[in-house]
Amino acid sequence: MPEHWTPDSWRSKPVVQIPDYADPKELADVEAQLAVFPPLVFAGEARNLKKALGRVARGEAFLLQGGDCAESFAEHGANNIRDFFRVFLQMAVVLTYAGALPVVKLGRIAGQFAKPRSAPTETINGIELPSYRGDIVNDIAPRLEARVPDPQRQLMAYRQSAATLNLLRAFATGGFANLGSVHQWMLGFLEDSPQSRRYKELADRISDALNFMRACGLNLESHPELRATDFYTSHEALLLGYEQAMTRIDSTTGDWYATSGHMLWIGDRTRQLENGHVEYFRGIKNPIGIKCGPSIRPDELLRLIDVLNPDNEPGRLTLIGRFGADKIDQHLPALVRTVQREGRVVVWSCDPMHGNTISSRSGYKTRPFDRILSEVKSFFAVHAAEGSYAGGIHLEMTGKDVTECLGGTPAITDADLDDRYHSVCDPRLNAEQSIDMAFLIAELLKNERSGRPTVVAAKGG
Ligand code: PEP
Ligand code: CO
Repeated sequence: MPEHWTPDSWRSKPVVQIPDYADPKELADVEAQLAVFPPLVFAGEARNLKKALGRVARGEAFLLQGGDCAESFAEHGANNIRDFFRVFLQMAVVLTYAGALPVVKLGRIAGQFAKPRSAPTETINGIELPSYRGDIVNDIAPRLEARVPDPQRQLMAYRQSAATLNLLRAFATGGFANLGSVHQWMLGFLEDSPQSRRYKELADRISDALNFMRACGLNLESHPELRATDFYTSHEALLLGYEQAMTRIDSTTGDWYATSGHMLWIGDRTRQLENGHVEYFRGIKNPIGIKCGPSIRPDELLRLIDVLNPDNEPGRLTLIGRFGADKIDQHLPALVRTVQREGRVVVWSCDPMHGNTISSRSGYKTRPFDRILSEVKSFFAVHAAEGSYAGGIHLEMTGKDVTECLGGTPAITDADLDDRYHSVCDPRLNAEQSIDMAFLIAELLKNERSGRPTVVAAKGG
């Protein structure tokens, strides 16, 4: 029998990556305030997402998960949210069309604030400072006092998440996401790009199909699935005090749900079996993810699955591999074989961002587009070879015209990185690179659906 679980049972376990706050009383006060704030999402919505992910696990849908590496207080605004949502909808439509299957839309948004760091300190302009841990914890400004963890920031993160989610809900259901508006999701600054031309062609075909159906006498306005879309939120649940305060009992089922987002995931640095993060996750009923980096062993993964999805519920668990283009072939096949052999139902998703971060010659933390694509191709190829389903993609992306990842079309060079490098954490695909990537993934998805083998280009090139 597993030990009794409560929203605070993680506190008796070791935890890593959670900051030390100077004033425990102030922290407890903030957590007490959060605990009576309204939930951001409802249990029923989390259950719907779990059902949708169950369809992904069965190969009947595809998962698109993406957004900022870290949301920031400074960049909080309607235009950013709108531009992200537009690009995200465009990517979803490209994938839906190519795969001829539903796409589950899951943002890394409305709560994606807390960041694990590989080192406790970082050196900026020759000064050693405590690492920036996301706006929910401390301030990115390179000053000692700014880097002190401040509990009040959790209240701000909650309010920003609520406001962001409010606008996203309005966009998703209030007409913006209407398939009849498929042309309007194009971003002005992308108008003349090859990606936009390609997207416009696809949008024309969709409009033609809708017009054809209308001409046949179908009343499209009466179909809610064409007028609105299901959009869900997700984040890494790193700051367990915040998550605990947002964990509530669902009155319909009597089960505990995290209400800070629809889906939460455990980061690659906090998935230790005996630790507090796994303890917290085992008790919530939301769909959850585990980031799987090169250090995870098949037997370890199996034990995590035992603890986190003991009933083998489809849609409960998404395994998000993030190995790196040069490591995926070495690690993913054994994990897939073990999970298949043991009959465990999971969604296999690919995060081609976190294993492909490099330092550019000019000193920027960046990711080459080709390496990202190479990991995605290997992901499809491994699943084709193992007879499993490559079910999803997890991207760090933005609707803005930033210059953070190298390559794509037109290519961003090392010299360009300095122009518009805005990320507060990891480098994101910009709007154009994101749509480019969606078209490339669409091809792979189409091949997967038709049973054609994936041709993998030479690695690293
Ligand atoms: C992230 O998704 O931003 C992240 C830190 O990922 P990982 O846990 O895979 O390193
Ligand atoms: Co990141």
